[in-house]
Amino acid sequence: MSTVIIGGGIIGSSVAYFLTNDSSPYKDHEVHVIESSSQLFSAASGYAAGFLAKDWFSPAVAPLGALSFDLHHQLAAENGGKEKWGYMQSTALSLDVNDGRAKRTACRGDDWLREGTSRAEVAAKGEESSTTVMEEAPAWLTKQKGGRVEPISDEGTVAQVDPLRLCKYLMETTVSRGVKWHHPAQVISVVTDRDTNAISAVKVLNSVSQTESVIPCTNLVICAGPWTSRVFNSLFPSAKLRLNVSALAGYSLVLRSPRHTLVHEHDTYRGRSHAVFTTHPRDCGFSPEVFSREGAEIYIAGLNSSDIPLPSQAEESREIMDKQKIQELKAVAVRLMGRLAEGNLEASDDIPNVDDLEVLREGLCFRPVTISGRPVISRISEDLLGIGVKSKSPRTGREKGGVFVATGHGPWGISLSLGTGKVVAEMVDGVKTSADVSGLSV
Ligand SMILES: Cc1cc2nc3c(=O)[nH]c(=O)nc-3n(C[C@H](O)[C@H](O)[C@H](O)COP(=O)(O)OP(=O)(O)OC[C@H]3O[C@@H](n4cnc5c(N)ncnc54)[C@H](O)[C@@H]3O)c2cc1C
Ligand SMILES: *[C@@H]1O[C@H](CO)[C@@H](O)[C@H](O)[C@H]1NC(C)=O
Ligand SMILES: *[C@@H]1O[C@H](CO)[C@@H](O)[C@H](O)[C@H]1NC(C)=O
Ligand SMILES: *[C@@H]1O[C@H](CO)[C@@H](O)[C@H](O)[C@H]1NC(C)=O
Repeated sequence: MSTVIIGGGIIGSSVAYFLTNDSSPYKDHEVHVIESSSQLFSAASGYAAGFLAKDWFSPAVAPLGALSFDLHHQLAAENGGKEKWGYMQSTALSLDVNDGRAKRTACRGDDWLREGTSRAEVAAKGEESSTTVMEEAPAWLTKQKGGRVEPISDEGTVAQVDPLRLCKYLMETTVSRGVKWHHPAQVISVVTDRDTNAISAVKVLNSVSQTESVIPCTNLVICAGPWTSRVFNSLFPSAKLRLNVSALAGYSLVLRSPRHTLVHEHDTYRGRSHAVFTTHPRDCGFSPEVFSREGAEIYIAGLNSSDIPLPSQAEESREIMDKQKIQELKAVAVRLMGRLAEGNLEASDDIPNVDDLEVLREGLCFRPVTISGRPVISRISEDLLGIGVKSKSPRTGREKGGVFVATGHGPWGISLSLGTGKVVAEMVDGVKTSADVSGLSV
């Protein structure tokens, strides 16, 4: 028995993890991950915010969301997730800015954030009991004129991780269990058995040495994020199925603020994170999201671009970043977290500085999105594959193994990762899944 996973992001890593976890009957089976990028986790899984929610999902996704949230908690509790990948409990807040001005049709992306006043008011409340403080805005968030901060999460229903460190943990664990990671490499074709017509192997091209190899394969799991449609179409050109997974680009920054140090993290917030969601009051299509992460990091995103074409390789994202967009995001970071000194209030979008914030990383990455807004987590039946692949078990006559797809997680791939990995491993295994994902099949 051998499973080949195409795409080594957080979904591929989670599938490999659960296929090889001790309780799995596939303990001895071969698992391979084929990843095309020369640098692991250079796509969304390494650049996401890492916010986790238990119950923020539509009905079809809700069972998976709850399972996955619990698995994140369990994995962290059993394996030192706090230290290893920055797992923290969190509080989600909405920042509603109503500056009293009439709605305008034409507006600039960050006008509404320009009216900030002193953050002293926020800081002055910092001495209250810790439960009250948790209901309030964190002190690193600059007080906005007309701004109202309200908690939007119940205790124990949101959390935070550093997704890059979680990916690395999953990858290293699977390597220690014998999973083989091939990168940079690509699957160039699927080999079927002459007699049964079942999938028997894949041909893999090593992108550095340009050498081909054949890997035995009874199960193929495609989880190449926004590249999934490309992969599927190239491996199954005559398939009737079109997966329609597209890419929604998002810019991000990782920052440090003198108003959010390790001392604040440990003493003021008792090792908890804050997530701040805000929307533009005049609907200009910009919804900043800010997250404090372990190690006194602050992550900000929310500036999307649907017109950036997906690069062929994840690591090329850095070269196609629009400097103007990064400047806009920096300007918003200053409005939301800067000191708002006199000069900054009048500064234009392309101010070269970031006030007293320190930029640790600039990022651009692509969310895999579907038309329905739901992920696709499904076995692909042989009649949809288009090449007459037979994946019935010759022994029992039941459909077994074959081709599986797990993608389209949109803005929730980190949160839904572990649940997806567990459910896909169960599908490969042919057992009942731990969460009902029937609403996510093709
Ligand atoms: C700015 C931003 C912030 C986000 N914040 C959050 C958050 O807070 N919480 C949350 O839950 N989610 C968040 N997300 C969403 C999350 O990042 C994604 O849903 C998730 O990373 C998708 O994981 P994936 O493994 O499916 O895809 P990816 O991470 O894209 O991985 C796919 C992999 O497939 C590889 N690949 C491509 N083509 C091939 C090929 N031909 N052969 C082999 N491999 C191939 C790629 O190189 C890549 O490594 C955010 C996304 C963005 C853009
Ligand atoms: C992996 O398997 C072990 C042993 O059965 C179990 O204790 C652990 O909880 C599993 N991990 C997850 C995340 O399910
Ligand atoms: C993909 O899009 C096509 C055309 O819009 C549609 O017919 C098809 O059902 C879609 N596929 C899926 C899996 O949603
Ligand atoms: C940007 O994309 C994220 C994820 O899909 C979404 O939550 C946010 O609302 C989007 N913002 C805008 C302005 O489209």
